[in-house]
Amino acid sequence: MAALPMVRVALLLAFSVFLTLVLGFGLPSVLNLFARCCGFPEASVTESIVLLYALFVLYVAMPRLPRGTLKVAGKAVLVTGCDTGFGLALAKHFHKLGFMVFAGCLFKNYCELVRSLWAVVNNAGISTFGEVEFTTMDTYKQVSEVNLWGTIRVTKAFLPLIRRAKGRVVNIASMYGRMGNALRSPYCVSKYGVEAFSDCLRYEMKVWNVKVSVIEPGNFIVATGILTRDIVTTTAEKLWKEAPPGVQEDYGKAHFEQYMALMRSYCNSGQREIEPVLDDVTDAITSKRPYKRYNPMEPHWWIRMQIMTHLPAAISDRLYF
Ligand SMILES: NC(=O)c1ccc[n+]([C@@H]2O[C@H](COP(=O)([O-])OP(=O)(O)OC[C@H]3O[C@@H](n4cnc5c(N)ncnc54)[C@H](OP(=O)(O)O)[C@@H]3O)[C@@H](O)[C@H]2O)c1
Repeated sequence: MAALPMVRVALLLAFSVFLTLVLGFGLPSVLNLFARCCGFPEASVTESIVLLYALFVLYVAMPRLPRGTLKVAGKAVLVTGCDTGFGLALAKHFHKLGFMVFAGCLFKNYCELVRSLWAVVNNAGISTFGEVEFTTMDTYKQVSEVNLWGTIRVTKAFLPLIRRAKGRVVNIASMYGRMGNALRSPYCVSKYGVEAFSDCLRYEMKVWNVKVSVIEPGNFIVATGILTRDIVTTTAEKLWKEAPPGVQEDYGKAHFEQYMALMRSYCNSGQREIEPVLDDVTDAITSKRPYKRYNPMEPHWWIRMQIMTHLPAAISDRLYF
């Protein structure tokens, strides 16, 4: 590793000392002061940290705060990927709420659709699976073509309308946009990209008063068409057929079949009710102050996501892989 220039070393050291002092002395003092102001007895550092943690837990467990709701009348929403799953349910739900809904799969000339588009929901997506050595470059490209480039393409096509309406962009990513998993690399790559794109767009759109939200659903496989037994069967056949002979030999058919059985077992897994997703997308579109990220997922997935995104990889790897 190349030696760091002295100035950078000095800066890093100074910053580390500053953080140590702030966290070691400043934070407990602030917490003690806060506890005293609330009328608690003289609090120790430990009690303060417990208090901070309790506040954090309270924040996490708290139901969504009311933040004001916008009027629906005269607003149009475009949802992509409406043949099945979330998209179909979202289109019906928004129609019931009174939005003018454009529910579609492929449109040739987006900008002529409507003049005052309020929101676009980038929902269309596909999923696949397979170990990296079994996955062809074409597969990586196909999945990102729909999930990532599709999201960017649709967003760019409609952004002028959304920007003029000071409206909303809602991108359906996934919990796999925040954490990886074995056998899911093509999907994770595309969804990490959606997260990155959404963050960058959100920063840019702030000055235009356009709100960009990301929805990160957990596992809703059983309630949607994203992974069916037919998909697993055809994908498994394709994976084995396209794997180079050396890979087939090294990994072996038994190992491959074991993983495919695991994927088949996922077809009936996950949450059966998709209301959490509908509620979150609706909030992102109708709330005066929508959240940046929504996590409609079961608690064990939420905990896993927090562990994988906040703890050192040495710990999360040991826990989950
Ligand atoms: N289900 C879950 O557990 C889960 C979890 C996290 C995130 N998500 C995300 O949620 C979104 C919706 O998926 P879903 O679960 O509702 O699955 P789904 O039932 O398979 O719905 C996906 C929709 O996208 C459409 N679509 C696929 N490729 C398209 C293309 N090239 N152009 C236009 N439309 C296309 C499909 O249309 P056709 O049927 O006509 O192909 C279908 O209507 C996806 O982005 C997915 O990644 C799902």
